[in-house]
Amino acid sequence: MTEVWKTALNQGLSPELHAMHRSIDFDWVLWPYDLSGSRVRMHMLRKVGLISEADFETIQTGLDSLETELKQAVHQPQDRDEDVHGWLERLLCEKVGPIGANLHTGRSRNEQVLLDVKLFLVDQVHQWIQHMHRLTQQLAGLEQAAGETLLPAYTHLQRAQPIFLHQYWAAHRVTWQRRLDQLLAFFQRLRKECPMGAGAINASTLPLDYAFEAKMLGFEHASVSPLATVSLRSEWLEFSGLAVHWMLEVSRLLEDLILWNTREFGFLRFNNTVTTGSSMMPQKRNPDLCELLRGKVSTALGHYNGLLALTKNLPMGYMKDLQEDKPMLFGICAQLDAFFVALPAILDGLELQAETMIQAAGDPSLLATDLMEFLLAKGVPLRQAHHQVAEWVYQASSHPLGLPGVAKAALPDLPEDFFEPIRSCRARLRPQT
Ligand code: ARG
Repeated sequence: MTEVWKTALNQGLSPELHAMHRSIDFDWVLWPYDLSGSRVRMHMLRKVGLISEADFETIQTGLDSLETELKQAVHQPQDRDEDVHGWLERLLCEKVGPIGANLHTGRSRNEQVLLDVKLFLVDQVHQWIQHMHRLTQQLAGLEQAAGETLLPAYTHLQRAQPIFLHQYWAAHRVTWQRRLDQLLAFFQRLRKECPMGAGAINASTLPLDYAFEAKMLGFEHASVSPLATVSLRSEWLEFSGLAVHWMLEVSRLLEDLILWNTREFGFLRFNNTVTTGSSMMPQKRNPDLCELLRGKVSTALGHYNGLLALTKNLPMGYMKDLQEDKPMLFGICAQLDAFFVALPAILDGLELQAETMIQAAGDPSLLATDLMEFLLAKGVPLRQAHHQVAEWVYQASSHPLGLPGVAKAALPDLPEDFFEPIRSCRARLRPQT
């Protein structure tokens, strides 16, 4: 085994216990970030005079060749490796000898893991922002293409009032834009504080220049509280919360699309590039991708809950419980990636059935509220108007001309186009400032 902590005090774990205890199986993906952190640490140690120029050169050259080899997948973690930090230290020492262990001078894995994940999150958030820009543009495209197509808006999954299709898309665009704004603000904050400087729990007695290290790593300043840095996973929770929040919002769009695609609604057909068939029923065209993404929201939500639960009641300080955080965080990132692959294709593959939507929106009873408001404008008290219209709707079910017939008989001054849903929708649009 290559446990970096093995000494006379700790003889090392049995192979079975080591296998259960190690994190290399999932944290090896952090190697590019761990390597960047080590490079910068060497620059800082040279600056403060804690390593010689010759050792610095040897280590940087070793790190260069290690990086090339890792990119070419020359090295795989071995069972004996415990985590990404020890793995890279071992690989470097195999190249340059024991001076490779200088990577760890004044440094602890407790802060190192925070730095690695922070740099990883910066990349993740950056990519997510790019995807969100594209996705909100895609929604804006659907909004524009909708023209004046109408459909019913639903409350309690019952037809409520007509609405423009572009308003439906705008609802999602506005919602996603809010998430994007939060993400942009989070990205700025993420790059302020560098975790380095925390040490294991209270920095180091060595004359280390943490400010220099933070700047070189692209942050504004070093850790402001060593204890807070190694104890908390606040930014991970914030990232996960944001991800799950957005996914929950997307799940509501997916749910609508799945419903609209049913024969019962008939508002939508999916292009056959995003549907799948059944192994038994030849006629099927299933919206699997939407359903799968909907399921992935539940998986991500489970990971998020797991992360929250993990930090509850932990004493301040680094506790090994926290090793369990990475599979959950990475799990959320994997679900997000699935969204970035499938969501654009789903939105591209919508064949909206405008005729069916318009027909459904033409149900005159959807304008019962308009009728009530017509009475209100004439000075009829609200409850009286509400009851009157309910009575007309009741009578309409047995009237050959339906609600328009009943209403026009009672209100001769009702405008001709009153029961045109487009009139109602246009009247409801408000300037957006
Ligand atoms: N593998 C550990 C983790 O994921 C790294 C930090 C280890 N620190 C320690 N004191 N054992 O949390």
